Amino acid sequence: MASIFITRNVPALIKQSLVDEGHTLSEWTEKRDLTADELIRHAQRCDALFSVGANQINKSFLNACKHLRVIALCSVGYDQVNVTEASKLGIPIGNTPGVLSKATADVAFLLMQNVARKAIHKHKEILRGNWGFFDPMADLGIELQGKTLGIFGLGRIGYEMAKSCRGAFDMRVIYHNRGRNEMAETELDAGSVSFEELLQQSDVLSVHANLNKETRGLFNRDAFSKMKASAIFINTSRGSLHNESDLRQALESGTIWGAGLDVTDPEPMAPDNPLLQLPNVAVLPHIGSATIETRMKMMQLTVENLIAGLAGKRLPYCVNPEVYEG
Ligand code: DGY
Repeated sequence: MASIFITRNVPALIKQSLVDEGHTLSEWTEKRDLTADELIRHAQRCDALFSVGANQINKSFLNACKHLRVIALCSVGYDQVNVTEASKLGIPIGNTPGVLSKATADVAFLLMQNVARKAIHKHKEILRGNWGFFDPMADLGIELQGKTLGIFGLGRIGYEMAKSCRGAFDMRVIYHNRGRNEMAETELDAGSVSFEELLQQSDVLSVHANLNKETRGLFNRDAFSKMKASAIFINTSRGSLHNESDLRQALESGTIWGAGLDVTDPEPMAPDNPLLQLPNVAVLPHIGSATIETRMKMMQLTVENLIAGLAGKRLPYCVNPEVYEG
């Protein structure tokens, strides 16, 4: 039997599956993020952490909580974790790959269509009382049929986005990755291109890469200046992959056509952020994985990681398998 600290209120069914294993639970029930000190204080009293939300699992947290037997993240992304330090301390870190790919790709697809047809902007216009005189050439959108989709980071989520775009609009798929994605090349006729070619050729450029040293701020003024004036930029990955003021400038100056963002930096985005006023922008509050089905699957995987880790077994979904070496 072990004790687990859960950083959010999670469904009773999920908690029951941990209680059934004989574990005791404590959970954060306030409707605000834990401070760094609060996170340490709570985690110090437990054997394992069930981390929901963007809790910073950084060096100081890890060194204050060296005793943790497992840290199970309820997310696929783990950029908030100092994995090197966790591995040094021998703490296995779990995540939830695979189960949120379709839901997240669906949000990228939704944003792409929203921006192409200015849907969110037009909804706002109705609220402002601006559905009046019919001008056949006012505020027109663009069609996606047969256009080129560029995927930056063609992993599981990028694959689902590419598949939807090919199926719905017969879009040509190009991608830029560290390695080749043979499945996408065979099944979706996807072509591997350089980063420059991706920028130059994409009608829709959708970001699906992890946030790391190489990708932070990669979509900046220089990158936007190489894109087509008719291009749509979509980011459902992490807000820090794009430079927000460079993006705003590119959108205001017509360097690119529009942008759809499910992720921002910081999150939450301030309600007075000027991006929210632009007609060619759609912003969502990081809802990529926010469906009932997907969130339940993510929590189930988190539970599997906790149960395995607390039984001294290898985590089934582990971001630092090096902890098991040697
Ligand atoms: C993830 O799982 O990384 C999603 O972005 C939700 O946080």
